[in-house]
Amino acid sequence: MAKPIILSGMQPTGQLHLGNLEGALRNWVNLQNQAKYELYYCIVDWHSLSSDYQETGDLTNRIKDMMIDYLAAGLDPDKSAIFVQSQVKEHAELFLLFSMIIPLAWLERVPSYKEKKDELGLDSFGFLGYPLLQAADILVYKANFVPVGKDQLPHIELTREVARRFNHLYGEVFPEPDALLTQFPVIPGIDGRKMSKSYGNDITLADTAEETEKKVAKMFTDPQKIYKGDPGRPEICPVYSLHQIYNPRSPEIHSGCTTGSLGCVDCKKMLASHLNRALAPLREKRKELEGKPEVIWSSLKRGAEKAREKASATLKDVKEAMHLL
Ligand code: TRP
Repeated sequence: MAKPIILSGMQPTGQLHLGNLEGALRNWVNLQNQAKYELYYCIVDWHSLSSDYQETGDLTNRIKDMMIDYLAAGLDPDKSAIFVQSQVKEHAELFLLFSMIIPLAWLERVPSYKEKKDELGLDSFGFLGYPLLQAADILVYKANFVPVGKDQLPHIELTREVARRFNHLYGEVFPEPDALLTQFPVIPGIDGRKMSKSYGNDITLADTAEETEKKVAKMFTDPQKIYKGDPGRPEICPVYSLHQIYNPRSPEIHSGCTTGSLGCVDCKKMLASHLNRALAPLREKRKELEGKPEVIWSSLKRGAEKAREKASATLKDVKEAMHLL
């Protein structure tokens, strides 16, 4: 029996942070290690150009850093095809064919388009087409499942509509993929907002133990807890949110904070040491990989070859269905 197919992707933002790790990457690794799926994990460099087309000087480095983090976190090129989108041209070819059959209105009503268009002042053709390129990423592997965060649901819904429309016009070629939602709380950054590279509030896998300690020491806490002895409200404190993930004895933190017996300085020191303990093996692996760039590039090359095999077979089906040469 053929295994169900999984595809997911991330933009090449460079060094990954705890939000990426807990919200996505650990789930990708778990799916991989269940050994019951055929897996494709894609670094979507074309997508990143839809907003960051001006500064591309460090794109190659961002891809490399991301791949280092992937491998350090346990993605395995022998088990998953890990590759860069622009190395598999079939994504672009399928995107072009889809662009002929999908009404403009379908793209204009995608929520992320309206929101980001005004917020970021973006209005290129490629930016409008972003979710259609994503649909091509997914459907070019005939993926059945797409592990993503909630924010991506409208894009998965569009992907299903694209598959349905294609199948209706030319015959059954594509499955309708389902999102696999990760059940994970939002990871707060050091300022208490959602952790994000663009907010500059992140803790990355590449940070050293000392850098992590410094960042944690700067974290926002309950503004009503000023002195040790003041009772605090852990439920509104980002330090406590991270304790809940990284400290198996977080209930003790909760009671220490609410009674006032635990001060913020000590609480942060404890968090930093739990974080550093959890991240130490990844960081060690990361360091080792940094010294072996040839491993990074050859793994990506191998991933692209595997991906191309599947993608070109799909394109063959597509062209046959459409009576293209
Ligand atoms: N839009 C996704 C994000 O911003 C990235 C992405 C591109 C993606 N293509 C994909 C995710 C295909 C899953 C499947 O996170």
